[in-house]
Amino acid sequence: MQMTCKVYKFLFITLFLQILAAWTPVCAVEEQAPDIAYFRLVIATCYTCHSATGAGADTIPPLQGLSETYIKELLTAYKTSREQATIMNRISKALTDAEIDRISAMLGRGER
Ligand code: HEC
Repeated sequence: MQMTCKVYKFLFITLFLQILAAWTPVCAVEEQAPDIAYFRLVIATCYTCHSATGAGADTIPPLQGLSETYIKELLTAYKTSREQATIMNRISKALTDAEIDRISAMLGRGER
């Protein structure tokens, strides 16, 4: 009798873990959605200066066609004041390193 109980307990735990495992990817996808919306909004603010087409105005360099590595390098240099600029030091200091990674990756792929 006690053995049967142990088997049921084992089966219940196994089933529970399987259900949990099956749900995990679904939850991860749901959590990503607001995250993406946030980064799209941040990138939209970049284009208020870097022009809507990303082509760049007179004194503001274009973001179009820049590689992920180059953007990340510059944003990090502005953030750490290794590169002195007029506006970008202040903007990049407001970004975390993880945010710089995401923004650079998205811009490097030409995303808006
Ligand atoms: C208020 C206007 C403004 C906003 C907003 C802005 N930038 Fe800039 N950006 C500039 C200016 C001006 C420069 C030239 C460097 C300087 O003087 O700050 C520049 C330079 C850059 C450069 C260097 C490009 C090159 O080829 O030298 C990158 C990369 C960059 N910005 C990325 C961004 C990103 C990413 C955002 C959004 C998080 C952003 N910028 C938001 C004005 C802006």
